[in-house]
Amino acid sequence: MKRSARVTLHPHALKNNLQQAKRVAPHSKVLAVIKANAYGHGMLAVAEILDNADGYAVACIPEGIELRNSRTQHPILVLQGHQNLADLKIASEYQLRVVIHDVSQLPYFDQLDGCKVQVALKIDTGMHRLGIPPENALSLYQQLKNHSNIDADIWFMTHLACADELNNPATTQQLDTFIHATSQINAPISIPNSAGILGWQASHSDWVRPGIMLYGSSPFAFDKKGREKYHLHAAMTLTAPLIATYKLKKGDPIGYGASYHCSNNMLVGAVACGYADGYPRHAGTGAPVSINGLETHTVGRVSMDTVIINLDNIPAKVGDKVELWGENISVDRVAYHAETIGYELLCNAGNNCIRG
Ligand SMILES: Cc1ncc(COP(=O)(O)O)c(C=O)c1O
Repeated sequence: MKRSARVTLHPHALKNNLQQAKRVAPHSKVLAVIKANAYGHGMLAVAEILDNADGYAVACIPEGIELRNSRTQHPILVLQGHQNLADLKIASEYQLRVVIHDVSQLPYFDQLDGCKVQVALKIDTGMHRLGIPPENALSLYQQLKNHSNIDADIWFMTHLACADELNNPATTQQLDTFIHATSQINAPISIPNSAGILGWQASHSDWVRPGIMLYGSSPFAFDKKGREKYHLHAAMTLTAPLIATYKLKKGDPIGYGASYHCSNNMLVGAVACGYADGYPRHAGTGAPVSINGLETHTVGRVSMDTVIINLDNIPAKVGDKVELWGENISVDRVAYHAETIGYELLCNAGNNCIRG
């Protein structure tokens, strides 16, 4: 099925953004986070473009299998780890490093016959999403270290809950908890996501795990200038054609619910992109778009296949390409209008639209 909205991938932007992660954390190795189809950008394509990352992180075993089948030799960290014995056997065969975040994962190691698995032990330092309690870290490490089916090179990791809020003391508390829990252990460590890399130097560790910054989006909530400040470039552009232009009179309503009434006589245009393509329904009136190098904005509610834009003083004709986000319009600005985050928009559009 070919709808009109298109996502385009920008390899140079991806490479640049990886370089920025390396520049900001020069003493760390980089695990490029390419889970969820590389946030909608296409996992295998992104992995190939970012092959000078030191490794990759994916969410689950099937993603790890697909990535390893692409013949990469890089380390692959599976963030959700294994859920059963079959997963663990695959992890051993495909050399996937599984995250241990829950004691329910442990018995499967005893059932492996003769193969070794690489692991990373995740400590819950305060996010309370996945991870073992910090007070159990040392004893569990010793248990794993002596296990014949576990590779002796055990990593430690944690995940930061509030690193996108630069004044929030929770990050320092998490780092303190982590240091305390691992003080007697000499092992490779992996802590920061994009926000940690860009905002919390103290979180830089042997391995850093940038995701969203690789795709050119700011990890800092509603930070409108974010990507410029950190020299990031959009790795995805979402475009769709203008399929109609028409004049409306002052007071005319636009779209479902008549949520917008023209403030003056207006020229508007219909763009063939809606929430079925991953454009956020909640963007409403005022979300920025770019057409023929000029910025304008949406008017009225976003519908399934269409969004209406203001074309007053904009030279445009049917067939012209409208950028919903990309090089000119940062996805973070659109996300801000939709009261969500760039991550969600990239995943939704990237996994819905054809690439071209
Ligand atoms: C455990 C873990 N590490 C790293 C990342 C990358 O985070 P970000 O995209 O904010 O850089 C994620 C993303 O959700 C994650 O779950």
